[in-house]
Amino acid sequence: MQNLEELDALQQEGLKALEALNNSAELPHWYREYLGRKGRLTTLLRGVGNLSAEERPLAGRRGNEVKKALEDAFQTRQDSILAGELEASLDEAVDITLPGRPLTPGHLHLSTRSMRNYREIFAEMGFQVYEAPEVETDENNFTLLNIPPYHPARDMWDTFWVNDEVVLRTHTSPGQIRCMRQYHPDPIRVILPGKCYRFEQITPRSEHQFYQIEGLAVGHNIRMTDLIGTLRQFAEKMYGEGRRMRIRGSYFPFTEPSVEVDMDCILCKGQGCRVCKHTGWLEIAGAGMVHPVVLKNGGYDPAEWSGFAFGMGVERPAMLQHGIEDIRYFYGNDLRFLRQF
Ligand code: PHE
Repeated sequence: MQNLEELDALQQEGLKALEALNNSAELPHWYREYLGRKGRLTTLLRGVGNLSAEERPLAGRRGNEVKKALEDAFQTRQDSILAGELEASLDEAVDITLPGRPLTPGHLHLSTRSMRNYREIFAEMGFQVYEAPEVETDENNFTLLNIPPYHPARDMWDTFWVNDEVVLRTHTSPGQIRCMRQYHPDPIRVILPGKCYRFEQITPRSEHQFYQIEGLAVGHNIRMTDLIGTLRQFAEKMYGEGRRMRIRGSYFPFTEPSVEVDMDCILCKGQGCRVCKHTGWLEIAGAGMVHPVVLKNGGYDPAEWSGFAFGMGVERPAMLQHGIEDIRYFYGNDLRFLRQF
């Protein structure tokens, strides 16, 4: 019977071809050719229908035997090829004597570290942290801080405008308004840390983004001496005992009276050096008593309530402390700089 011979031949040929395969990529081709839906065995078995009634069962049984034999052989061959390849890949790729690849965990940015320092020191003095947005309304950034439209004091802050009513905050002071409006008529003692933006020429001394720490206290009988005492305490915790402070009259639209606060130079201890421009003093804050108009805008009656506010830079003191000559390093993303801190 021709059909049975053909089946035998197919089995022989299939087994031989299977032995001749070299790698796993060839396995699917073999499978498709011999056992696939349009493969050679299927084609042969289709002819079984044309055989006589006696021959048909014989050929059918033989067909199933061939199919089983080829499938078993395929499985065995596939297992052995894959095992061989795995073995080979292990031999090549894993050299357990190589040194490990070091993990390089990052660390905090200098600005972040400074900010955390400020937060800790003020937390010890009972100040909570109030976070306010970096994108602000003109109203909060200026108008409600007693700087109406077209007031010349707006020139103190070169401003990035988002549109006619929205700005990138030029200082952290607009947070004062948000905080007061949220917490009045309760007393307040908060710091407001955050990033600020100014539309300025970038130079070694000025960036268009930088951090500030704002402070705000609102209560009954809060006085100028509370402000000075708070800043003195801060300076000693941050820069060491026995600091000297100096208060100079100044102007901010949202404080009255307004002052600038100096501390004896941390490098020369007040002797005079290049860093303090031979004055012996470094400015650490703009500050003052919260202006009655601002208290009112925040929801507090200035006849009953008073408060102090201050604003401090973060990068400049860090520069002085670490001898950093150019503020642009803070955002330059140069690892040679960042890794030093
Ligand atoms: N917001 C002021 C500035 O950026 C600093 C300041 C804050 C002054 C609070 C007084 C009170 O220049």
